[in-house]
Amino acid sequence: MVRNVMRNKSLYIYLSVTALVLVFFGVFLWVSNDSEANSKEVELTDSDANNPDLIVNGIHVRTGLVEGEGLTEVITNCTTCHSSKLIIQNRMGTEQWNATIRWMQETQGLWDLGENQDIIVDYLTTNYPTFKKGRRAALTDIEWYPLDSK
Ligand code: HEC
Repeated sequence: MVRNVMRNKSLYIYLSVTALVLVFFGVFLWVSNDSEANSKEVELTDSDANNPDLIVNGIHVRTGLVEGEGLTEVITNCTTCHSSKLIIQNRMGTEQWNATIRWMQETQGLWDLGENQDIIVDYLTTNYPTFKKGRRAALTDIEWYPLDSK
C-alpha cells in the first residue's frame, strides 16, 4: 500500500516535470518564431536589386540613408562626390551643417544648392540629430597655471 502511494507520487512528479518542460519548450518555440517573423529578411527580387530608389524598412537601400522628407534632394546633391556614410557618421546642428556646406562650396567644388539647402539641412538635422551628451562637455573658464620645473 505504502509502496503504491510512493509509486503514484513519483509518477505524478514525472508527469508534472514533463508538462513543465513541454510548456517551456512551447513558449520558447513561440518566442523564437515570433522574433524570426519580426526580423524576417525582406526577400528582394531581381528588379529590386536594380532599383536605385528601393526603400526597405525605412532605409534607402542603395545609400543607407533614412527615408524622410528631403531624401531625394540629399541623394541628388550629396552622394555624388563621397559616400553617404560621411553624412550618416556626422551629427551636426543647423549652423554646423550650413558651415560644412559652405566649406564644401568654397573648397571642394560643391555647387549652389539654392532652395534645396534648407530642405537638405532640415532632413539632416531631423533624421540625424546630434547625439545627446555623447561625452562630457568641454571645460571652460579654466585658470591655467604654469608648472614649476626646477
Ligand atoms: C562637389 C563634391 C561634393 C559634394 C557634391 C558634396 N560634398 Fe561633402 N565633401 C566633399 C569633400 C571632397 C569632402 C572631404 C572628404 C574627405 O575629407 O575625405 C567632403 C566632406 C563632407 C563631410 C565631412 C566633413 C567633415 O568635417 O569631416 C560631410 C559631413 C559632408 N561632406 C556632407 C555633404 C553633404 C550633406 C552634401 C550635400 C549637401 C555634400 N557633402 C556634398 C565633397 C562634396
